[in-house]
Amino acid sequence: MTNDEVQSELSVGRWALSVGRWLPMAQIIVAPSILAANFANLADEVRRVEEAGADWIHCDIMDGHFVDNISFGPMVVGIVRKQTKLPLEVHLMIEHADHFVPRFVDAGANSITVHVEPEARHDVARTLQQIRDAGCRVGLTLNPATPFESVERFLDKIDLLLIMTVHPGFGGQPFRAEMMDKVKRAAARNKSRGTKMHIEVDGGINPETAKISIENGANVLVAGTSIFHSKDYGNAIRQLRGDLG
Ligand code: DX5
Ligand code: ZN
Repeated sequence: MTNDEVQSELSVGRWALSVGRWLPMAQIIVAPSILAANFANLADEVRRVEEAGADWIHCDIMDGHFVDNISFGPMVVGIVRKQTKLPLEVHLMIEHADHFVPRFVDAGANSITVHVEPEARHDVARTLQQIRDAGCRVGLTLNPATPFESVERFLDKIDLLLIMTVHPGFGGQPFRAEMMDKVKRAAARNKSRGTKMHIEVDGGINPETAKISIENGANVLVAGTSIFHSKDYGNAIRQLRGDLG
């Protein structure tokens, strides 16, 4: 997907373009997190989830400072870019995200999400504008311990709000249901203002917690373990959507 297509998706609003097929916005977007993939066969894994019906690919970038883990960087995002036409969503769990945004844009990111916490050490408003100016979808995220009030003043500047349902840094953690209050508040804001900000959840998403998240207003589901540790990626993705047909 080119960033022009991302921008047309952002401007069209109700309908989202994904690789030549039009999807009603009500449809749930599933973004497998490659952190749980078998990295020895990363190219195959990416192609398999695309064939299995994934909508986006979620790339978790960890620097060992903002979070207590180290994952991968722009080079791996570039490798993923060559395997798929799906939108690449880059989740930056790093300090000084503004310094690295251009490298992820060059690697082929279509959507970039940064953290609002002061520990991320960047000027949030300026970084959001930097992502917008690069033609990418603009995402903002908050940790479980971070109050919803911290993101409110930025909501007019973003296309996607990622509500972490685990403390970031590792896959395979249990879902924190108390985060649904933030999902509800974001959904209520969309409703009261007639806006179409994506509401995304990330961490411990499986068929049961996906259902809870969708019922509270989320429309984008990030899932690592429940997809890549399953035997049938297609079935795992359909179950997350609640599509048991
Ligand atoms: C955690 C990451 C998540 C994680 C999800 O910091 O942001 O994307 O990989 O993995 P699961 O679905 O296994 O919780
Ligand atoms: Zn993530």
